[in-house]
Amino acid sequence: MKILIVGSGGREHAIAWKIAENDYVEKIYVAPGNGGTQVEEKCENINITDINELVAFAEDNCIDLTIVGPEVPLVDGIVDTFKEKNLKIFGPSKYAAQLEGSKVFAKEFAEKYGIKSAKYKEFTDRKKAIQYIQRSNFPLVIKADGLAAGKGVIICENEEEAIEAVNTLMVLDVFHGAGLKIIIEEFLEGVEASILSITDGKTIIPFISSKDHKQIFDNDKGPNTGGMGVIAPNFYCSDEILKEFEENLMNPTLKGIKEEKMDFVGTIFFGLMITKKGVYLLEYNVRMGDPETQAVLSLMESDYLDLMIKAVEGRLNECSVKWKEKHACCVNGVSEGYPGNYKKGHEINGIEKSKSKVFICGAELQEGKLKTTGGRVLSVVALGDNLEEARANAYEDLSNINFEGMHYRKDIGIKKEF
Ligand code: AMP
Ligand code: GLY
Repeated sequence: MKILIVGSGGREHAIAWKIAENDYVEKIYVAPGNGGTQVEEKCENINITDINELVAFAEDNCIDLTIVGPEVPLVDGIVDTFKEKNLKIFGPSKYAAQLEGSKVFAKEFAEKYGIKSAKYKEFTDRKKAIQYIQRSNFPLVIKADGLAAGKGVIICENEEEAIEAVNTLMVLDVFHGAGLKIIIEEFLEGVEASILSITDGKTIIPFISSKDHKQIFDNDKGPNTGGMGVIAPNFYCSDEILKEFEENLMNPTLKGIKEEKMDFVGTIFFGLMITKKGVYLLEYNVRMGDPETQAVLSLMESDYLDLMIKAVEGRLNECSVKWKEKHACCVNGVSEGYPGNYKKGHEINGIEKSKSKVFICGAELQEGKLKTTGGRVLSVVALGDNLEEARANAYEDLSNINFEGMHYRKDIGIKKEF
C-alpha cells in the first residue's frame, strides 16, 4: 500500500512512524513533512501543500489512502475534493469540519444535542459585545469564531482586558477575518483532558485519555502554546469521568453527526474541562492533537492504519482498540521565545543518545545536520510501567538533547489538586 500523509509536524511524524509498522505499507509520502519524516522508515517527503496538487499526486502515484493531519486543509475542503475524484481519504468533509472551523457552529451543535458546554453569546457587533461585557462577571472567555492557530481564545480577568480582547479580534482583525465574529463564554474552572476518538460516522471508538500542558512555563504560567507536553492516560480521567464523557458527550455527538447527515470519517478530538459540576465540552477538533498524538499512538497496540481503513470502509463496528499496559510522557523541546518570535537554524545534537522515541516537530535536515525551523522543535516520548517511570525516562533523554536556546517544561505530568 502507498499512503500519503498531509502535514509537517510532530503529529504527522508520529502517524507516519506508527503506520510504517503495518507490513502491507510499502511507501509513505509526507507532504511536506519535516526532518524527522525524511529519515523515518518507508517515508519520503514531497514538497506539496496545495490541495489540487495533492490530488494530482495521489492520482499519479496510485495512493491507496490519504491521511490529513492538520485542521486547515480539512476546513478548506480537502476531503470533498479528494472524494470527487474517487480518492480514499481519512478526514471529515468540509461541512463536518466546521465543528472545529467555527466555534458558533460547534456551540449550536452542542446545544441542539444536549452536550454540556459553557454558556455563551455570539457577537458580530462590537458595541453589543462591549455592552454585554460591562454587565458580566469575570473571568470571561472570548473566542474568535474561526481558526486562529490555537491563539483565538483569550481569558479575561476584568473589563479592561475583555474590551482589549474584543478590539484585538474585531478591530485590529489579527486573525484575518476569523475574529470578526466572536463568542463570549462563561469561564469554567477545573482540569482539562483530551480524548481523541475515531469514527466512521456510525460507530465511534474513544482512544486512551491524555492531558496536554498548554502554557509555556512550569506551573501553568505564561502564554498558551500549541502544547508543551502530554501524559497518557490522564490521571483525572477516572472510570466514572470516562463514563460520564461517553454518555453525555461522545454518544450525543455521534447522534448529532448521524442526524445532521454529516459525512464524518476521521478523528474527533474532544477537549474537555472536568469541573465540580461535571464534564464539559470545551471544544471539538476534527483531527488528532499535537502533541497528544505522539503520546497516544506510542501506547497504541492495535494497527492504526487498519483502523483508519476500516473507518473509510464504514466497518469500524468490527474493530476494537488495544492499548499497551504502560504510561506515556511526552515532553516538547521548544525554541527560545516561543510562542512569540524565535530564531531558526540552530543545530540539534544528542537525539541519537535517546532511548525513547523522538518525534520531530519543527526541524529540517540541512547538509546532513538537523536544524531548528519551528517554535515547537521536538517531542521526546518515553514509556514506563507507571507515570513516574515514564517521566523519569523522558527527562533523562531530554538531558542529552540540546540546541541553542532550547526550553522545556520540567513539570509535565505532575498532578495538581483541584
Ligand atoms: P481551545 O482553543 O478552545 O482549546 O481553548 C484553548 C484553551 O483555553 C483551553 O485549552 C482552555 O485551557 C482554555 N479555555 C477555553 N475555553 C474555556 C472556558 N470556557 N473556561 C476556561 N478555560 C477555557
Ligand atoms: N494540543 C492541542 C491541539 O492539538 O489542539
